[in-house]
Amino acid sequence: MMRKLSQLPAPPEKGLLGHVYYLKKENIHRQMMEWQRDYGSLYRLRAGLKKALVIADVDLIREILKARPHDFRRISNIEAVFEEAGMNGVFSSEGENWKFRRRIVESALQPGQLERFHPLMQNITTRFSERLDSLISVPEGIFLTDEFRRYTADITTMLAFGKDMNLTGSIDNPVSSALQSVFPVLHRRCRSPIPLWRLYRSPEDKAFDEGLGRIKNTLAALIDEQRRSITAGDVTTPENFLQAMVFQQMEHQRLTDRDIVANALTLLLAGEDTTANTLAWTMYLLSRHPQAELALIQEIDQHNDSAPLPWPLPSFPWMNAIIKESMRLKPVTPQIYLEPVRDTRIGDIEIHKGTPLFLALHAGTLDEAYFSDAQAFEPSRWIKREGASNALFPFGGGARMCPGRSLALTEIKMALHAIYSRFKVIPLQDPEMVQERYAFTMAPQNFRAAIIRR
Ligand code: HEM
Repeated sequence: MMRKLSQLPAPPEKGLLGHVYYLKKENIHRQMMEWQRDYGSLYRLRAGLKKALVIADVDLIREILKARPHDFRRISNIEAVFEEAGMNGVFSSEGENWKFRRRIVESALQPGQLERFHPLMQNITTRFSERLDSLISVPEGIFLTDEFRRYTADITTMLAFGKDMNLTGSIDNPVSSALQSVFPVLHRRCRSPIPLWRLYRSPEDKAFDEGLGRIKNTLAALIDEQRRSITAGDVTTPENFLQAMVFQQMEHQRLTDRDIVANALTLLLAGEDTTANTLAWTMYLLSRHPQAELALIQEIDQHNDSAPLPWPLPSFPWMNAIIKESMRLKPVTPQIYLEPVRDTRIGDIEIHKGTPLFLALHAGTLDEAYFSDAQAFEPSRWIKREGASNALFPFGGGARMCPGRSLALTEIKMALHAIYSRFKVIPLQDPEMVQERYAFTMAPQNFRAAIIRR
């Protein structure tokens, strides 16, 4: 017996806009877990005039992810908001535009490219290690997330743009601080039923314009630099993502300068915070679990070298298990927003084309049906093969699955090795002080730690 969306249960609304009050909150992912407990794995929300379906059923999530791009797309707000901001790249585009951009991104992130890039990644990791040395004497501790952002932004910009920004060695981190003003605003706009920012620019919107402007100017200068090298004949085959796009532009005129900036910005946006926050959460969890930390140190010591890891990376089963467990307990992208491209059915529910679908990618993470003692940080479940990998979607799934996952895992392993081959991390606050803050990605707010030599 089929049901209509309006027949599904819904949490109590707040105000005229339905559930918008909750959707704007930085802990909406946690709220959704509570609603899942109270209303089941399929329930309804209202954002203004639109009714949305929340899907917290692992099997349905998997089916929907796999049915892209044919049956589902990202929610159309995303393309409109990103286009307006001049950021419509592979993440937000659809159809032929997406296919074309996805091919360029995949070739920039394929294993052969990562192998060629590895020596540069080792240099950046050495610099990261030196930076850790300089942070030992900071008595009030440091915000590790900021340090990881510099590291991941350096790697992404080097791989994608062939440019060493050296944010790790700089006092100021202009790219990252600009991105920090961009993330929350994008997140808010994508979920907002009414585009208020077009009528009135709040201080947050102004900071967004200013931050974005700064990053775009930096990127435009980089594009000019690459174009000059190509025109002068210094580069004959593309060596990085930016060059690949400039070549495309010169040969096929398929990309405008605005498109190139948008694509470049997308990679930076998608690659920086996600990886930095995953690293930060991993450190947070390790710093609270001395036994797991000790076992990691022992595993790393067997490798017997504190120099940056070579390519291919040595096998570290315990480290892999730790990363997987951290991504389970603290998934940095707990949700994605899609919509069906035609009238369809999801489970036993009839859904109209364009209905917002909130996929709770984190739905299975704490579910005892998939993980025994699900709240506990227990990396050994992955060694014993007791974890249900198919209940987790840290990188999404299907044709639009994260193309940066191998790069991200390489970065995370190299950073963990750089840290634990010489240091330990001491948290400087009670665990409950560290809050989950979800604005595009989910970050550990207030996580301050001291670095000490082992
Ligand atoms: C631990 C780190 C990371 C996590 C957890 C993560 C997670 C995700 C997720 C959940 C999606 C949505 C997938 C979907 O719709 O099914 C995504 C998309 C994407 N990610 Fe990542 N990501 C990470 C790192 C990176 C890195 C390092 C890059 C590149 C430098 C990157 C580039 C992208 C791009 C371009 C997309 C859009 C793909 C498309 O729409 O076709 N990500 N990522």
